Amino acid sequence: MGKIRVALAGVGNCASGLTQGLSYYREEKKNLLGLRKLTVGDYFPWDIELVSAFDIDARKVGQDLSHAIFAEPNNAVKFAQVPKLNVPVHKGRVLDGVGEYLKNIVVVAPAPEVNVPQILKQSGAEILINLLPSGATEATRWYAEKALEADCGFINVTPTSIASDPEWAERFERAKLPVVGDDLVDQIGATTLHRTLLNLLSTQGVHVSETYQLDVGGGTESLDTLERTRETKRKIKTETVKSALPYEAAVVAGTTDYVDFMQNRRDSYLSLKGTYFGGTPLEIELRLSTVDATNAGAVLFDVIRAVKLGMDRGEVGILSAISAYAFKHPPIRLPLEVAMKGFENFISQA
Ligand SMILES: NC(=O)c1ccc[n+]([C@@H]2O[C@H](COP(=O)([O-])OP(=O)(O)OC[C@H]3O[C@@H](n4cnc5c(N)ncnc54)[C@H](O)[C@@H]3O)[C@@H](O)[C@H]2O)c1
Repeated sequence: MGKIRVALAGVGNCASGLTQGLSYYREEKKNLLGLRKLTVGDYFPWDIELVSAFDIDARKVGQDLSHAIFAEPNNAVKFAQVPKLNVPVHKGRVLDGVGEYLKNIVVVAPAPEVNVPQILKQSGAEILINLLPSGATEATRWYAEKALEADCGFINVTPTSIASDPEWAERFERAKLPVVGDDLVDQIGATTLHRTLLNLLSTQGVHVSETYQLDVGGGTESLDTLERTRETKRKIKTETVKSALPYEAAVVAGTTDYVDFMQNRRDSYLSLKGTYFGGTPLEIELRLSTVDATNAGAVLFDVIRAVKLGMDRGEVGILSAISAYAFKHPPIRLPLEVAMKGFENFISQA
């Protein structure tokens, strides 16, 4: 099978995790620990090829992607040597890409903006992954537009509604292109952990009365969240967590703060209170400590390969099974195990 040719909009920490992950698993074919799936259809992770990239920061634009991923203000952990990729980072349109809190951190490149659809086509990209800051709503829509113009499928990692917006979904369907989103789930994120715990407790007959999940992180995305998307993220996460319980409870889940010295690490604090047999009280307190950038890699590997599989089969518009499996705000939300089964069915279809 041929390669999967992928372009990146936004060369931040998440792009760093994905790019490094591709080098890591290409080199370490014997050590495949850490992946969710070795194959999706007939595709291996190393069938994914990054062919073009766009950003706006002066320290990234004009650099090869292999260098740009390590440029400031990115602070993702370095876990792989990335050889020169011959993929220059091109300047996209800024729009609302830089929020107030990031104005002193992001340095907008003076270079003129490129013709994004032209570069996408020249590089042979078939899928564009949107990895912009979560507050960059206008810019996200702009890249979705460019994907349509360049005949690329679209993976929306950000919380801006694209796959879950019926108008956008219809536009991709009319263009005979796939779209998946919105807001990627982490490989092992607090939301999935929270949902799994609630599911376990409720199936064991525990009545959970109140629960919360609070995050602190040190990547630029945490800072942007604090300024622009705290409420949106809180809404998405709270709804997702609530959906794991078959009854009403007091639930709050959402990002709370930015702690600069944490770099790209994220600490998530979970608290659950309820009662079990005979009204006996039960409490769980736990902390999940992860790194943001690497938490997206394994899920992105699966999503990219599944979207390509859908494209091979001529599937267009929203790919619901992928969206429900890998995103926090899909067009149709399903219980975890149903979503996983749906994804397995999707990839095993002839
Ligand atoms: N585990 C994860 O990393 C994870 C999980 C779920 C969702 N997400 C989402 O992924 C997105 C990216 O996260 P991140 O941590 O990499 O953020 P980041 O801040 O590290 O990276 C964003 C990048 O986009 C660039 N950018 C800003 N405006 C642009 C524009 N107009 N055109 C091109 N580039 C532009 C910035 O310069 C930066 O390099 C966020 O929306 C986040 O919510 C990430």
